[in-house]
Amino acid sequence: MEQAWPHPAVRVERRAVDEAESRRANGPDWDRYADEYQATHGPFLGDAGFVWGPEGLTEDDAGALGDVRDRDVLEVGSGAGQCSRWVIAHGGRAVGLDLSHRQLQHSRRIDHETGVAVPAVLGTATHLPFPDGRFDVVFSSFGALQFVSDLDRAVAETARVLRAGGRYAFSITHPTRWMFPDDPGEPGLIASQSYWDRTPYVEIDDASGEVAYVEHHRTLGDWVEVLDAHGFRLRRLLEPEWPEGHDRVWGGWSAIRGRHTPGTAIFAADLV
Ligand SMILES: C[S@@+](CC[C@H](N)C(=O)[O-])C[C@H]1O[C@@H](n2cnc3c(N)ncnc32)[C@H](O)[C@@H]1O
Repeated sequence: MEQAWPHPAVRVERRAVDEAESRRANGPDWDRYADEYQATHGPFLGDAGFVWGPEGLTEDDAGALGDVRDRDVLEVGSGAGQCSRWVIAHGGRAVGLDLSHRQLQHSRRIDHETGVAVPAVLGTATHLPFPDGRFDVVFSSFGALQFVSDLDRAVAETARVLRAGGRYAFSITHPTRWMFPDDPGEPGLIASQSYWDRTPYVEIDDASGEVAYVEHHRTLGDWVEVLDAHGFRLRRLLEPEWPEGHDRVWGGWSAIRGRHTPGTAIFAADLV
């Protein structure tokens, strides 16, 4: 729910959307948004930086992945590959995957600019084009997971490509944010919808009538259940606090809201 750039006139609905429709909408949406996203947030992310969310918590401080040195690491929803470049700088072998061709073009651009290249493929979180047991670590920093309808499949795919004992870490919009309007100001502090209503947030293109953007919501309990169902043991759930003096606004994330409610949840789990 962070659309703020000029994009086709849309109307907002809450309705069920399946995996195919989610993918058809969100791939082109991220293609349209990529230039704006990288121009706006690229400097904050850093070309080889690893930021878990708008609060600015870095992996250097969080340590959610564990030691990545000499590890095979997959980033799902890798965007321009900033986090994967951090992994490479820390001695890991990173591979990126993203649904958006334009995001991957930015990844390639930054590869050239920095001299640190992230091998990256076009694909979706629900069909990972890798053999079983290929990785030691799979992670997503706000990548993919809230855009897929078939979360069960995405987590099953992650479990499949991980080696036994492998680490799965990901950040998402904190599920409690679903209760509030996506507004960085005071109105964003007034709970107006049910935390338990999983009906997706959908934008419909006025001109074509097609779904143009989708976000899916799960409660904290849903995340615990899906991880458990696929053999993961949850190790950590981080809820970064809004840092003192941090006044950056990112979509619905801001100091005004961040002082009262968590904006990001970071899960770290091991495949047992
Ligand atoms: C908020 S961006 C985060 C990108 C990057 N991790 C970062 O921090 O800038 C979300 C990314 O997820 C990608 N994405 C959306 N749906 C996806 C899917 N089903 N499979 C893989 N990537 C997806 C988008 O194309 C986009 O690049």
